Amino acid sequence: MKAMYPGSFDPLHNGHLDVITAAATMFDELVVSPMRNPQKSSPMFTDDERLAMIVESVEHLAAVEVVSFEGLVIDAAERLGAGVIVKGLRSAGDFETEMRMAHMNYSVTGIETVLLPTRPQTSFIASVFIREITAEGGDCSHLVPPPVAARLAEQLRRR
Ligand code: PNS
Repeated sequence: MKAMYPGSFDPLHNGHLDVITAAATMFDELVVSPMRNPQKSSPMFTDDERLAMIVESVEHLAAVEVVSFEGLVIDAAERLGAGVIVKGLRSAGDFETEMRMAHMNYSVTGIETVLLPTRPQTSFIASVFIREITAEGGDCSHLVPPPVAARLAEQLRRR
């Protein structure tokens, strides 16, 4: 079974990596797909930067591939031949949102979504907070994989 893990990943953090690591053991193939969230404007990192950071962060995981997409997750999953969408769950708030998207995606195409809880020690991490703290000069390097920490340090130097 091939699974797809879509997200904004702006930037990828250790909570995302938990989900990727767990899902990579459950499915034969896992495609991580950076996409645009239509409800989030002005990303911190470009599409190419987000793709590169994920590629470098998952290179130790043989069953994982990284492919960017534009548009709908269901169309991307169909193009990939993925039978399942994987999403991470940090909190009850995530559950509400993810259940609604899972129901929508299932009702339109019949594709199932598997919701994986993140580890408790990473459940507080959110890309939006990493962006906010980095923009004001704070250090979030302990919350992200090393390739992302290097790009965040670059952003800090450019301030
Ligand atoms: O990391 P995020 O921001 O929670 O990821 C959200 C993402 C990109 C998976 C979501 O915005 C999304 O599904 N975008 C593609 C557009 C789409 O498929 N919309 C229909 C949702 S039911």
